[in-house]
Amino acid sequence: MTDPTPSNSTSSDHNQLPSFNLTGKIALVTGASRGIGEAIARLLAHHGAHVIVSSRKQEASQAVADQICKAGGSAEAFACHIGEMEQIAATFKHIRERHGKLHILVNNAATNPYFGHILDTDLNAFQKTVDVNIRGYFFMSVEGAKLMRESGGGSIINVASVNGIIPGGMQGIYSITKAAVISMTKSFAKECAGLNIRVNALLPGATDTKFASALVKNETVLKRVLAHVPMNRVAVPMEMAGAVLYLASDASSYTTGTELAVDGGYLTA
Ligand SMILES: NC(=O)c1ccc[n+]([C@@H]2O[C@H](COP(=O)([O-])OP(=O)(O)OC[C@H]3O[C@@H](n4cnc5c(N)ncnc54)[C@H](OP(=O)(O)O)[C@@H]3O)[C@@H](O)[C@H]2O)c1
Repeated sequence: MTDPTPSNSTSSDHNQLPSFNLTGKIALVTGASRGIGEAIARLLAHHGAHVIVSSRKQEASQAVADQICKAGGSAEAFACHIGEMEQIAATFKHIRERHGKLHILVNNAATNPYFGHILDTDLNAFQKTVDVNIRGYFFMSVEGAKLMRESGGGSIINVASVNGIIPGGMQGIYSITKAAVISMTKSFAKECAGLNIRVNALLPGATDTKFASALVKNETVLKRVLAHVPMNRVAVPMEMAGAVLYLASDASSYTTGTELAVDGGYLTA
């Protein structure tokens, strides 16, 4: 067993009123040009972090960064397709050169290109889903954790899904990758705890975003989904962000390797 107290903190440091203050922290949020990622970026910035807003599109990311700055926060945009290894390398080169440190990484960008029976999954859809949702999260975490190790520690939050626990119908390969993200979270948490890096997963339930539009905008499908949600409604993106703020901040200083479901009670069903 490793020493339970990370080298740069003592148990008395943690015996304070929990703080959600992120002033002085550098945070990278992927998939932050809209939806859940945008809400997370806005909330982390509101609590004092400098947020690097990232998605595949520079312009869309810049628009969110500009809004954050207009609201009095601190942000910049940097485009990164997390399914492209060289773009991951370029992102961390940029962060290293510009900031020299990273405290918070939110792996939120994911893809779900195929909706259909698992037996009809074609290789392209399989590969794309695995490259983005598993390889992307994995190497973003590797590069992020290396920088956090140099910065004295940090917090990684992986946005998985309730589908990682109960597979979504007709969403086989997507659900499989989300289960892998939950497993990946535990592996990184175990091996990085001694580096003062905490790693946790957020498991959103159905949330009203572009990603879930096929589900949320179709009344028949929505009714079927809500039949399994005790709170009988879908979430809005900002309802995911509060959970990420908790996991990113010192308020969760003894939390690592866990799955936090924010799902209106779906997993109790
Ligand atoms: N909405 C739900 O009901 C729900 C439920 C469970 C889990 N989730 C998870 O929540 C996360 C966010 O989903 P969302 O609902 O907020 O989706 P969304 O509104 O469609 O936003 C997705 C974001 O990811 C970016 N993106 C897509 N592919 C990317 C890639 N390969 N590399 C980098 N950025 C990429 C998009 O911007 P660009 O197009 O500019 O790249 C956008 O900013 C995902 O991990 C998803 O699996 C969502």
